[in-house]
Amino acid sequence: MTAQGNDAPLVEVRHLKEYFPVNTGFFKTTPLKAVDDVSFTIRRGETLGLVGESGCGKTTVGRTMLHLYQPTDGVVIYDGRAVVGSKEKVDVNKFCVTSDPHPLSESTMSLDEYRTKTTMVFQDPYSSLNPRMTVSDIIAEPLDVHHMCSSAQERESRVLEIMARVGLNSEHASRYAHEFSGGQRQRIGIARSLAVNPEFIVCDEPVSALDVSIQAQVINMFDELQEEMGLTYLFIAHDLLVVRHISDRIAVMYLGKMVELADAAEIYDHPLHPYSKSLLSAVPIPDPKIARANKRIPLQGDIPSPLNAPSGCPFRTRCPYATEACSQTMPEFREVSTGHFVACHRTDEIN
Ligand SMILES: Nc1ncnc2c1ncn2[C@@H]1O[C@H](COP(=O)(O)OP(=O)(O)OP(=O)(O)O)[C@@H](O)[C@H]1O
Ligand SMILES: [Mg+2]
Repeated sequence: MTAQGNDAPLVEVRHLKEYFPVNTGFFKTTPLKAVDDVSFTIRRGETLGLVGESGCGKTTVGRTMLHLYQPTDGVVIYDGRAVVGSKEKVDVNKFCVTSDPHPLSESTMSLDEYRTKTTMVFQDPYSSLNPRMTVSDIIAEPLDVHHMCSSAQERESRVLEIMARVGLNSEHASRYAHEFSGGQRQRIGIARSLAVNPEFIVCDEPVSALDVSIQAQVINMFDELQEEMGLTYLFIAHDLLVVRHISDRIAVMYLGKMVELADAAEIYDHPLHPYSKSLLSAVPIPDPKIARANKRIPLQGDIPSPLNAPSGCPFRTRCPYATEACSQTMPEFREVSTGHFVACHRTDEIN
């Protein structure tokens, strides 16, 4: 249970921005708005799926949420406390606007504390594990960093316990990561992430580098670990079928902005944003009757550069429903029915 009751979010992001300075000429830098004013919540024990085309800012949202990148602006609130990156006293409410759900508590969370509760699982199990370290040392490294074991014995038993949880044989502890297949390596990566006993995990496309035949095993393991350990996930994926399987709710991003968020079934059955509609219409449906009814809506043109995003609604240059008004102002990300949020000027007319 969270500090604010059962339904209060475990993690909340308010007005998160991550701008990267990019060289665009002689002594000239332009901010690349990888994440541009994104707000959402994740409840304890929930999985929020995050989808969108390559380059829309999914990984940057995950990394900035974990403060692996210092946010350009905005705030991450963990279990009711704003996470602060520095020791100075921060006026956390400066990040909030009047339409936000509630003012923030004065009590903050240090990065050190936040890092023991949160972690990330990476996409590529081939490059994310040090080839010169044994499996045991790879898994124990975060324990060492956070001084979480008082003896070598405790360290070893903790490593073996985590290995068992992710289905790795204890005999593998003294071997090197390169001796394993992709699926086994991803299990080692997950074991490493679980070492510090986290509560919240950002899973960044954790199965997309794996053979299709073992993707399902690893996804099921994420499900089981969540159940056993009460974990909360932000689950980033390209594959919309994978996200549907694992997510309670799904958020759709486009060019650094969140364009839609709803329960997984709701967003699959009644997507409201033209971008979500076209993403979902590209998902193969096994039932031919449903497939015929679900007409494919092709996306026009390429995704614009985030260095030169369109004015107003970022999707308007590819949207079949765009009007002049869409180029004027950014649509508000508003709740159109309980728990269903969408950012589109024309939602009421086109649905
Ligand atoms: N460290 C960085 N410096 C400069 N630009 C960056 C940096 N990291 C990401 N970007 C840019 O920010 C934008 C968002 O990138 P991000 O990796 O978050 O997208 P993504 O949705 O995760 O894409 P993919 O599906 O390909 O993983 C892209 O335009 C990318 O080029
Ligand atoms: Mg990514």
